[in-house]
Amino acid sequence: MKLWGGRFTKETNQLVEAFNASILFDQQLAEEDIAGSLAHVAMLGRCGIIAKEEAEQIKEGLITIRERIRRGEIEFRIEDEDIHMNIERLLIEEIGPVGGKLHTGRSRNDQAQVDFHLYVRRQTVQMVELLVALQEALLSQAREHVDTILSGYTHLQKAQPVRLAHHLIAYVSMFERDIERLIDSYKRVDLCPLGAGAMAGTTFPIDRHDVAEQLGFARLYDNSMDAVSDRDYVVEFLAHSSLIMVHLSRLAEELILWSSDEFRYIELDDAFCTGSSMMPQKKNPDIPELVRGKSGRVIGHLMGILTTIKGLPLTYNKDLQEDKEGLFDTVHTLQGSLQLMAQMIATMTVNKKRMASGAESGFTNATDLADYLVNKGLPFREAHEVVGRLVLHCIQEKKTLNACSLSEFQQFSSLVEEDIFKAISLEQVVEARKSYGGTARVQVEATWKRKQKQIEAA
Ligand code: ARG
Repeated sequence: MKLWGGRFTKETNQLVEAFNASILFDQQLAEEDIAGSLAHVAMLGRCGIIAKEEAEQIKEGLITIRERIRRGEIEFRIEDEDIHMNIERLLIEEIGPVGGKLHTGRSRNDQAQVDFHLYVRRQTVQMVELLVALQEALLSQAREHVDTILSGYTHLQKAQPVRLAHHLIAYVSMFERDIERLIDSYKRVDLCPLGAGAMAGTTFPIDRHDVAEQLGFARLYDNSMDAVSDRDYVVEFLAHSSLIMVHLSRLAEELILWSSDEFRYIELDDAFCTGSSMMPQKKNPDIPELVRGKSGRVIGHLMGILTTIKGLPLTYNKDLQEDKEGLFDTVHTLQGSLQLMAQMIATMTVNKKRMASGAESGFTNATDLADYLVNKGLPFREAHEVVGRLVLHCIQEKKTLNACSLSEFQQFSSLVEEDIFKAISLEQVVEARKSYGGTARVQVEATWKRKQKQIEAA
């Protein structure tokens, strides 16, 4: 017999049973469902909607069921459709017909919403914690590599040398924005929908503020129709998660590129790589590749929920049951990706020599030679032209700028003097960028300290 069977004269079609059910995935909300029910029933008792003793019996019954679920003793039933009706059925089996009083003044529409709000709220906090751990891994590598210099790239062509610390802290900044976004959207998930009923409120003299307070919600939905149909918080969580995955994917791409024989800038720890079934020499960066690849499915879940919601009239429609699987999968994907990325960053070895020699080739100090001429009075546009011709000369001669003699420089510009060699040395080139947020030591160390403080405060 279904909990809603009264109005029906036929059995549910077998295929419908499976197609309609959400229990296979929403059983992950068992803890939240029971927490919501405990708050609801305590309020029903306090407001005199059910007797105090009945509320007490239901509470005891729910706690017993929670224990049995935690011990893995419960097998949920497809016929009971979802976690809400499975638990209600278990409750009635446990304590008898009084269990049927739990659902007074409540609908599965506001119940499903409260469960999911509790879940997304908890996952938002967890995600921030994982992001902070990743930032810590990046920052501790950054601390070790203030003096490690590599070429920075634009268009994947060598551009200007930077400290590796500077490069890594760029990612710390990305994840900082991700944390800010999660903290901001937390406000909109920290909202209690319970008490909205099916969609119009309830005839019972409930106290929604009491329930919200018990569940630790800062605010309540103030419109019952919005309360049951809002899924903005799901969209926001998936949007933030998508951007986090995009950031991770960019970092992963660099790890993959840097591990290649062409770069050899880093080596990932063996524990995070795999071999080939055929080629004995291979050590493949599968984990960053998977992180890069898995960004696709998370972005897909975001598109999925947006598309699901966009044509829905108010209020609850069964389509909304589709809000869950994509989000569960996103949480699972992000947890693995963030944890593994932090561990890979912490354990990778950096090939300082390769990085330095990479920065020495590719004319990464050409801008500095132009700046040198500007400091001697030449307009920047003319300096750019002079250095361009010098670079062309060096390409033809197969040499670096530093390898030119003073008289060679002077053939291109009479402004060049003996001090040129210091001005275009790698160390000096990096150190000269003292502008706020630049790659000079003072700036990198100041940024490092600022980030470290923020993390400690988080
Ligand atoms: N399993 C449903 C969901 O997750 C619960 C709400 C169902 N409400 C209803 N009236 N059928 O969306």
